[in-house]
Amino acid sequence: MSEAPSWPRRRATTRFVIRALGAGDGARLREAVVGSVPHLAPVIPWARSDLTVAEAEHWARVAWLRYRQGVDFALGIFSVGGRRLLGGASFHCVARSPEDGELVAEIGLWISAGDAGAGLGTEVLRALVCWGLTDWPWTRLLWRCAASNSASRRCAEKAGLRLVVGDGEAATGADGAAGVGEHLLCFEARRGE
Ligand SMILES: CC(C)(COP(=O)(O)OP(=O)(O)OC[C@H]1O[C@@H](n2cnc3c(N)ncnc32)[C@H](O)[C@@H]1OP(=O)(O)O)[C@@H](O)C(=O)NCCC(=O)NCCS
Repeated sequence: MSEAPSWPRRRATTRFVIRALGAGDGARLREAVVGSVPHLAPVIPWARSDLTVAEAEHWARVAWLRYRQGVDFALGIFSVGGRRLLGGASFHCVARSPEDGELVAEIGLWISAGDAGAGLGTEVLRALVCWGLTDWPWTRLLWRCAASNSASRRCAEKAGLRLVVGDGEAATGADGAAGVGEHLLCFEARRGE
């Protein structure tokens, strides 16, 4: 995708704000990740307890460059007021077809250990799907998860995504979505449904 500085950047609800990550987010990103390592490490390879603020800040700045260039879109999920980072999300373009105008993105999502299990993941996923299929150019959104990741699977089901590749079928996962040889599920939502 070419450089397009007008990508949507922010979506606010009464419970959280989703916005592009960037300069100045390193400390909050580090705090959320370091406090969540056992919870995140199975699916997020860069979740380490020795992550420094400088590394997290660098990561957030690189993420913003990639966002501006339309490579992929790393988002922070912030508390209202912005004091805390509750988690992270992303849109990653996985397919485009200029002929039929199809533009497919995969959603990534994590919620910090302290904020998980209270309905936030489901609420954020609903917001991402709604936002992604209206203000963004995506025509189809995918959610892929290991079949063993019950929280992820339930989030997709509760957010109204449809299972398109399931038990017994082969699916190729995004990096970190599942371990080698682990079975994957693929859910989707389409614009206009
Ligand atoms: C997956 C994740 C985003 C879900 O966020 P969350 O805020 O915990 O989700 P919710 O509170 O909305 O819960 C959604 C469902 O998952 C269930 N759930 C939550 N944590 C769970 C756990 N550890 N084990 C099993 N089910 C769990 C909830 O009970 C709920 O289902 P229910 O309504 O049938 O009871 C979060 O757990 C997470 O960040 N996990 C690590 C990263 C990850 O796996 N990301 C997804 C990659 S595909």
